[in-house]
Amino acid sequence: MPVKMRRAAFLFLVAPLFPQASFAQQQAGDLANGADVFAKQCAPCHGLGVDFKTGLAGPPLNGIIGKKSAQAPGFNYSPQMRSARLTWDAPMLARYLKSPKGTIPGTRMLFNGLASPKDIADVIALLETYNDNGARAQ
Ligand code: HEC
Repeated sequence: MPVKMRRAAFLFLVAPLFPQASFAQQQAGDLANGADVFAKQCAPCHGLGVDFKTGLAGPPLNGIIGKKSAQAPGFNYSPQMRSARLTWDAPMLARYLKSPKGTIPGTRMLFNGLASPKDIADVIALLETYNDNGARAQ
């Protein structure tokens, strides 16, 4: 399935959890909330954007949506992440962000996961706007 369709299917699944939000809002994702979640929960360990920080605990996340796992050049991934052979489409990333260790036991991502399905959807929507070079597509 193309990434866009998978994302639409994913939003279709989570949208009923938020009856107060319109479907249009769900589809666009709440980028402001996504940026807030990223700044607080991911930025300490992950670079993002054209002038992304290097030398952090985690790999940079530019263009991560739709990419195969463990592809950041020179990053020392765990053996489990190297052998996981996943594609980071929206549903897979949602699973990982909800429970990193439950999805990839032995992952070096020392993060307990995001509890809120809305935060997960919004941070994924944000990541989708960054291409491989860190430029914003939207
Ligand atoms: C405490 C540091 C830390 C935090 C916080 C953190 N990560 Fe990670 N992340 C890592 C590390 C380390 C890895 C590599 C894991 C491995 O090799 O097992 C990783 C891996 C990943 C990957 C796989 C990347 C690839 O190239 O395959 C994604 C996607 C990801 N993190 C997204 C996120 C998002 C989104 C957040 C915020 C909600 C987040 N992470 C929070 C440290 C962190």
